[in-house]
Amino acid sequence: MASDAAREETARGVLTPAVYDYFAGGAGDERTLRDNVAAWLRVPLRSRAGASCPEADTSVELLGSHLAAPILLAPVAAQRLLHPDGELASARAAAAAGTVFCLSTRATADLADVAAAGGSGPLWFQLYVRPERDGTERVLRRLGPAGYRAVVVTADLPMPGERDREFRHGPIPMPEGVGIVDHLGSLEPWFKPSVGGWRATLQWSDLGWIAEAAGLPVLVKGVMTAEDASLALSHGAAGVVVSNHGGRQLDGCLPTAVVLPEIVEAVAASVPVLVDGGIRTGADVLRALALGADAVLIGRPYAWGLAGGGQAGVEEVLTELVEELAEAMKAAGSASVGAVGSAVLA
Ligand SMILES: Cc1cc2nc3c(=O)[nH]c(=O)nc-3n(C[C@H](O)[C@H](O)[C@H](O)COP(=O)(O)O)c2cc1C
Repeated sequence: MASDAAREETARGVLTPAVYDYFAGGAGDERTLRDNVAAWLRVPLRSRAGASCPEADTSVELLGSHLAAPILLAPVAAQRLLHPDGELASARAAAAAGTVFCLSTRATADLADVAAAGGSGPLWFQLYVRPERDGTERVLRRLGPAGYRAVVVTADLPMPGERDREFRHGPIPMPEGVGIVDHLGSLEPWFKPSVGGWRATLQWSDLGWIAEAAGLPVLVKGVMTAEDASLALSHGAAGVVVSNHGGRQLDGCLPTAVVLPEIVEAVAASVPVLVDGGIRTGADVLRALALGADAVLIGRPYAWGLAGGGQAGVEEVLTELVEELAEAMKAAGSASVGAVGSAVLA
């Protein structure tokens, strides 16, 4: 099966340099981007004799949804730059794999069209708070009736990070008829990643009215400290996503594998803790679970699958990761996700 690196090479071959750099790049000199991947490899695993665990069940319950595995598709903007089917293909692939697709605010397909494409698969919506509350509330009120099950509020992007690799290309022209939607019926024809149209700072007190308008559980994404995890919880968050935006915001900040344990210690007894950033193999997923995460999200790996193969390409990424996770669980002696614990770590 194709590895992540091979998929990235295939994607690079079919995308323009500007589009490839937008998806691949990180902030500054990309230290955190690289560290996110490297840090998982520095979490050593203990291998058990195979006969002690012949089968492994990767399924989990997460916020009321039964998932085939604790591996979700992270919100990734502008997916029709990768493939004509964009977010519709990703939603279909997640549904086929029995997992969550989290749709970005900055998508190239309206939330209702994605819901129709994704069938009965569990969908979440990622929110950037708009400058005017009225527009945000109108988007939030559409979610429940369309079938979305949770809102993921991204708290680490008051403005885009200093992404030199991305910004040197300038605005990316969209294919004919494609644009960034506002989920209220309008399109932005040019994709200007460097231009933020959202409020400069999300206030913790905003979580209350966001949950009320959506009528859904709210998770906070972009939590990198125990203090922020506790603040999110005390303002009503139903979960946190440990994330540094895939190394696209503050270059030099710690990789997510390193900060995960302090956040687990602070809040995991009360709410689910998810993590993303640099997760590339099933063994990485096992490491995250062993450090106390309830689930992981992947970003670039499925973007490359989408670019190279549309829905089938994303499904292949998910199938491969779930198979790898099952193999890693067996090798580490864990028959179920709930059984993965610190004994898996050396
Ligand atoms: C091209 C690109 C676009 C992204 N767009 C969004 C977005 O719209 N909203 C958001 O919350 N996170 C966004 N992210 C961050 C991802 O949700 C996720 O945190 C990150 O990709 C995880 O790291 P990984 O790519 O190493 O798996 C984006 C990431 C990439 C690479």
